[in-house]
Amino acid sequence: MGNMLKVLGIESSCDETGVALVEVCGSALPVLLAHALYSQIEMHQAYGGVVPELASRDHIRRVLPLTQQVLQESGRSLQDVDVVAFTRGPGLAGALLVGAGVACALGAALHKPVLGVHHLEGHLLSPFLSADPPEFPFVALLVSGGHTQLMRVDGVGRYQILGETIDDAAGEAFDKSAKLLGLGYPGGPALAKLAQVGDATAFKLPRPLLHSDNLDFSFAGLKTAVMMQAKKLATAQGCVVEALAPTVLADLAASTQAAIVEVLVKKSLAALRQTQLKRLVVAGGVGANRSLREQLNAECAKREVRVHYPELHLCTDNGAMIALAAAMRLQSGVQSASMVYAFDVKPRWPLDML
Ligand code: KG4
Ligand code: ZN
Repeated sequence: MGNMLKVLGIESSCDETGVALVEVCGSALPVLLAHALYSQIEMHQAYGGVVPELASRDHIRRVLPLTQQVLQESGRSLQDVDVVAFTRGPGLAGALLVGAGVACALGAALHKPVLGVHHLEGHLLSPFLSADPPEFPFVALLVSGGHTQLMRVDGVGRYQILGETIDDAAGEAFDKSAKLLGLGYPGGPALAKLAQVGDATAFKLPRPLLHSDNLDFSFAGLKTAVMMQAKKLATAQGCVVEALAPTVLADLAASTQAAIVEVLVKKSLAALRQTQLKRLVVAGGVGANRSLREQLNAECAKREVRVHYPELHLCTDNGAMIALAAAMRLQSGVQSASMVYAFDVKPRWPLDML
């Protein structure tokens, strides 16, 4: 490829509109020129979760202003864009269609090719934008709101699933437990914050599949256990769960976080053992969790395993990871961009089907 390529990336799979411009030069790692993000979380909070129709409508409002912002911040114009990338899936169909539609309209107007990206591949590759980028091969722990997977990654597009959740994702376990403790939506960060002042050993909560002989996860039972524990405490106090003493809620939060983190850490170590790889990449929203990072760092240091994370602000959904994934796919030659603008989206799309 040799020369320089600028990739515009658009993310609109859920409740964050993200746009970014990435530059790739030869075989060097892509560089982030600018990125802009609009989170709809406040809008959805009133409903206790993401309302797909509202999400789609808001993406439409945000995506072009964010694109203008990115171009302005990077000092480039639309004419400088060589490829327009968008999240093709998985995600909310209507929300995905906004990004895909806008990307293809831009591509058609500029006579530039487009490329549809797998959202999880974006998360997976996001640490390549960090100050401490990984090298292939590695084990990836992908922990987002919708997915929990352990993968063997041998290169761009070479993903082998080693294990995954058979029910709820880790992010879902955080969010659902947080919700029933009255911490709002999305509760992951709130639960993590409260957990900092709680006692993680206060309550004995289940660690599902911790000792199973595979690398699968199961988190659905945990939220039930948290609910039973919380209700028991509330009944004893003659109050509702949300009215429990702050210290008790903090202990519940800390115990919940400890259960999730212990399973994620133990299974990651098992995956490293099984593959005999010495490198771990952690990506997705739950990868922002401080306790998870601390424990993974400590355990991996003991085993001389290097751990890589995305920059904190690129852990949750963003456009930078989409532009990056497109740039790396082009760079490695696993995919070329297309001048055909008859786009489709894939709300359900397993990563190993890429
Ligand atoms: O990757 P992401 O932004 O969206 C999906 O692709 O799903 O992940 C969002 C998830 C949510 O479940 C959120 O609660 C969780 O990541 N999350 C956290 C933290 N920050 C975000 N969970 C635990 N601790 C955090 N600090
Ligand atoms: Zn995501």
